[in-house]
Amino acid sequence: MTKAGTTLAMASDHGGFAMKEFLKQKLEAAGYKVVDFGTGSDKSVDYPDFIHPLARDINSGKYDRGIIICGSGNGAQMTANKYPHVRAALCWNPELAALARQHNDANILSLPGRFVPFEEAWEMTRVFLKTTFEGGRHLLRVQKISQLLK
Ligand code: RB5
Repeated sequence: MTKAGTTLAMASDHGGFAMKEFLKQKLEAAGYKVVDFGTGSDKSVDYPDFIHPLARDINSGKYDRGIIICGSGNGAQMTANKYPHVRAALCWNPELAALARQHNDANILSLPGRFVPFEEAWEMTRVFLKTTFEGGRHLLRVQKISQLLK
């Protein structure tokens, strides 16, 4: 459970800008603090320029949870998952957001800003923040994600 009062990190490109602004307003109204890594408009930008700084700060432990958004959610997720302690999950519905937490201990939610209704994105965000990791049989599997073969 990530409680109100927690600081969350958010970042998007232009394809996710409108959804980021919508979710940021919802989160702040719900009592969360948001650190916004940009972008700051719908002007075309390159998503890695905004996702890398957020992912670095999740990787270091500066922030526990992040929400990233690009048009499809794919480029943002791919960029964030370059960092060993980042587990960014691309989600399309609340059930997948719940599973990303329960089974994968995801610490970043990646959303497709151009493909899901904003209210559905808000529901995914709420589920992502309230759902806890189940541990158990999933713990070793999650630990193995960053154990790369030589
Ligand atoms: C930008 O047009 C788009 O390519 C980007 O938002 C994202 O979908 C990339 O994965």
